[in-house]
Amino acid sequence: MSPSAGGLVVFLLSVQVIQSQDGWGVNYDETDVCAAKGSEVDIICDYTPPPGIDPSDIKDRFWFTKEKDGEPVDLRTDSEYSGRVNYTCNSYIKSCYLIITDVRESDSAEYKFTLMTNKPGEKYTGSPGVTLSVTGLQVQVRRLNSTWLELTCHSSCVLSDHPGYAWSKNGENIKRGSSLLVSSGSTDRYSCYFRGYPGDDSPAVYGPQRPSVSVSPSAEMLEGDSVTLTCSTDANPAANYTWYKQDGTSDPRLLSEEPQLIFSSIQSSDFGWYFCTAENQLGRKTSDFILIRVKYGPQRPSVSASPSAEMLEGDSVTLTCSADANPAANYTWYKEHEDSPRASGQIFTITDFTAEHSGNYYCEAQNEMGRSNSTLLLITESGVDRTTMIFHITRWPLLVVMLILLLVFCLWTRKKKAVSSTTEPHESREAVEMDLHPECEDLSDMAAQREDPEEQEDRV
Ligand SMILES: *[C@@H]1O[C@H](CO)[C@@H](O)[C@H](O)[C@H]1NC(C)=O
Ligand SMILES: *[C@@H]1O[C@H](CO)[C@@H](O)[C@H](O)[C@H]1NC(C)=O
Ligand SMILES: *[C@@H]1O[C@H](CO)[C@@H](O)[C@H](O)[C@H]1NC(C)=O
Ligand SMILES: *[C@@H]1O[C@H](CO)[C@@H](O)[C@H](O)[C@H]1NC(C)=O
Ligand SMILES: *[C@@H]1O[C@H](CO)[C@@H](O)[C@H](O)[C@H]1NC(C)=O
Repeated sequence: MSPSAGGLVVFLLSVQVIQSQDGWGVNYDETDVCAAKGSEVDIICDYTPPPGIDPSDIKDRFWFTKEKDGEPVDLRTDSEYSGRVNYTCNSYIKSCYLIITDVRESDSAEYKFTLMTNKPGEKYTGSPGVTLSVTGLQVQVRRLNSTWLELTCHSSCVLSDHPGYAWSKNGENIKRGSSLLVSSGSTDRYSCYFRGYPGDDSPAVYGPQRPSVSVSPSAEMLEGDSVTLTCSTDANPAANYTWYKQDGTSDPRLLSEEPQLIFSSIQSSDFGWYFCTAENQLGRKTSDFILIRVKYGPQRPSVSASPSAEMLEGDSVTLTCSADANPAANYTWYKEHEDSPRASGQIFTITDFTAEHSGNYYCEAQNEMGRSNSTLLLITESGVDRTTMIFHITRWPLLVVMLILLLVFCLWTRKKKAVSSTTEPHESREAVEMDLHPECEDLSDMAAQREDPEEQEDRV
């Protein structure tokens, strides 16, 4: 109902006097009023004083919902209604109406009209009064299938003029009717309202936005710290939250169904990627991944040399140091027994290697949490330069030839000794000398062993 001329027509037509005891009477136009939240409500009554009472004898007349010490409290003095109530009364037609603007759900109550004359104790209250129900609109969500949702508009009482419902999307009016189909996961804001009362929209319903994640007290964490991850988003109905940890390629592991994920004492093993989801009836959204890394000092660095730790003069070698640390470590290279560093940086290259470079090297990894020295890495000159290396490669065939020559020589001297011992016994001195050459014996043994397998083969 509105305070327009229409309201006036209603009250003129509804004049019907209910006689009451002593001739008093109060008649209400309607006894049940349903009003949309935020709208204006008019409650109308006509009253009849007993015969003989002059309008000037009416001392006071007002509306009330509450009594204090058995006395009705004028709505105009009730702070909950301050600035929102007005009475328009007419003593000649004996009618009075109450106007409440911007009605609230808390205004739902029984409203009664009371009259009192200037005679003490002479008062009359129209009871029962008018029951006012103030309804907000609510959107209910029902999932039809994986892609579609049905929104329906609900009010807790029916407005007397049955205005019907209409829908708005992001504040723009889109459709009439009590229901609306929307696609799942939408973050658009849908609300319904009574047609003709566009100001009194239902609270908008909308799916969650992509949730944001905050880390408290800060993203810099040390082992043992208490850390709280909070997932939040805007959604109506309020979203529920789920926390997951993603390890490698396996399925995410569910950790918590609370908006907050709490580590009472975080460990470096909690390292990893985390994310949360926010879900309500309209849809579900996933946050960005958040990397949890606990700060720690460098572990013992590992060192390696490339191409190898055995050097030839003039070569280059690259030494690499690496240590697990958070934040990343910086590196310093030392040669054993030297105080000042040789280099800084993860990679240390020795070019044009000389004998002076030979020795034990190690690196020190350092970050704000601490430092750690690697084991020693021995870099040595392999003792041969390139020309001797060539000799190394070529001398083996030469050695074989020399061995064969030596063997032939040994065999020849043996044979000669045998011959001379039969012919000339005095020459035994030579044979004694030959026996003093153990290589000869070894060589002949070797030669014999070599021949053995062949002989066996022949026999087979
Ligand atoms: C009450 O109504 C009268 C007359 O219509 C108006 O002058 C006055 O401002 C109204 N007061 C309030 C509080 O609405
Ligand atoms: C979902 O439901 C709507 C409305 O009933 C229908 O039009 C649509 O084809 C359905 N979609 C699927 C994927 O089932
Ligand atoms: C979160 O809300 C969705 C949609 O209302 C519901 O299906 C789901 O069961 C809820 N999850 C939890 C953990 O409450
Ligand atoms: C290495 O890091 C430490 C701690 O952050 C710093 O004090 C030091 O100066 C750094 N050293 C080099 C060579 O950058
Ligand atoms: C690593 O070696 C350097 C140089 O000898 C030394 O000053 C430093 O204290 C060592 N650091 C650790 C953690 O032992």
